[in-house]
Amino acid sequence: MENKKIFLSRIFPKIGTALLKKAGFTVTSWNQDRPMTQEELIEKAKENNALFCTVGDKIDQKFLNECVHLDIISQFAVGYDNIDVVEATKLGIPIGNTPDVLSKATADIAFGLMIATSRKMFYLHKSIINNEWKYFKPTGNLGIELENKTIGIYGLGRIGIEMAKRCKGAYNMNIIYHNRKPNIIAEKELGAKYVDFNTLLEQSDVLSVHCSLNTETIGIFNKTAFDQMKPSSIFINTSRGLIHNEPDLIDALNTGKIWGAGLDVTNPEPMQADNVLLQMENVSILPHIGSGTVETRNQMATLAALNIIEFYKNNNVPHIVNPEVLKKD
Ligand code: DGY
Repeated sequence: MENKKIFLSRIFPKIGTALLKKAGFTVTSWNQDRPMTQEELIEKAKENNALFCTVGDKIDQKFLNECVHLDIISQFAVGYDNIDVVEATKLGIPIGNTPDVLSKATADIAFGLMIATSRKMFYLHKSIINNEWKYFKPTGNLGIELENKTIGIYGLGRIGIEMAKRCKGAYNMNIIYHNRKPNIIAEKELGAKYVDFNTLLEQSDVLSVHCSLNTETIGIFNKTAFDQMKPSSIFINTSRGLIHNEPDLIDALNTGKIWGAGLDVTNPEPMQADNVLLQMENVSILPHIGSGTVETRNQMATLAALNIIEFYKNNNVPHIVNPEVLKKD
C-alpha cells in the first residue's frame, strides 16, 4: 500500500490520518480551516488514489468525471447527499460512510433543541446579554412542558430511535413515527406507533426530523405540512436543512401555525447572522453540530479510515453506500 496516496479534504481528527499512515499509505491533507473549492478539490484529487471527504464537498457529476481514477471515496459523515452516488456507481467508484457512531450525539442535539425551544432558552440567554433581565415576571418568559406529550419522529432509523428513547425515558412521551416501512423493533421496545404522514403532522406535539435527504424528502416540510400541525407544536430538524422550506417555516412561526422550532441544519449553510429566525423567541438554532463530540468525531475518522484500509487490503468497504460496485462476477 506504500504506493497509494490518500487525500483528506479538511482538517480531520488526527486518529484517521494516524491509522492511514500506520497502514502504509502516503497521506496529505488540506490544512486550511475553510472548505476547499471544487476546483481545488479536483486538482488535489487528481494527484491521489483515494479521497477522504465530508459534507459540503461537492462530489457531483463534474467532479466524478474529472476524477474517474479515484479507487474509493470515503465520506466522514453518515449523510452523503453531497455525493452523486448514481454517477459514482456508474463509474465503479465505491463510496464509504460512517453510520451508527454518531446516532447518540446527534439525538442529544435533537433532544437538547427540543428542551431549549420549549423553554425559549436561546432567546432568554440573549435577553440577558442585551441587558433586558430586569425583574422576575410571574407571567412572563413562559415555556411549555414536555411530560406525557406526543413526539412524532419522521424517519425512525438509528438516530430517530435514540431520540425516541430519550423522549420516552425523560418525559414518558408517547411515540408516533412515519417511515418508508414500519420499524417492528422500535414498536416492541418503545411502544412506538406507525402513522401516516398526515397523522404525524396532526398529532405531534414535537415533530423531529431524522430522515436522509433524498428526492422524496426534499422540501417535504412546507406550507402544506406546517398548516396541518398543531399551533402548540415544535418542529425540530437535525437532519438536513433542505428537508424544510425556510420561508414556509418562517411564515408558520409568524402566523402561529406552529409554536416553535429547533434547527441544527439550515438552508443554506452557513445561516447568515441577519436571518430573521435568529431573532425569534421560540426558535433555537445551532451550526450543524449534531455529531460534534470528541468521542464521536474520533469514531467517525476511524471508520472513514478503516473503509479505505479494508478496501485496499481485502476489497471490502465495511460501511459502503453502493455495495454493487464491489460485487465480483
Ligand atoms: C452527517 O454525518 O451526515 C452529519 O450531518 C455530519 O456529521
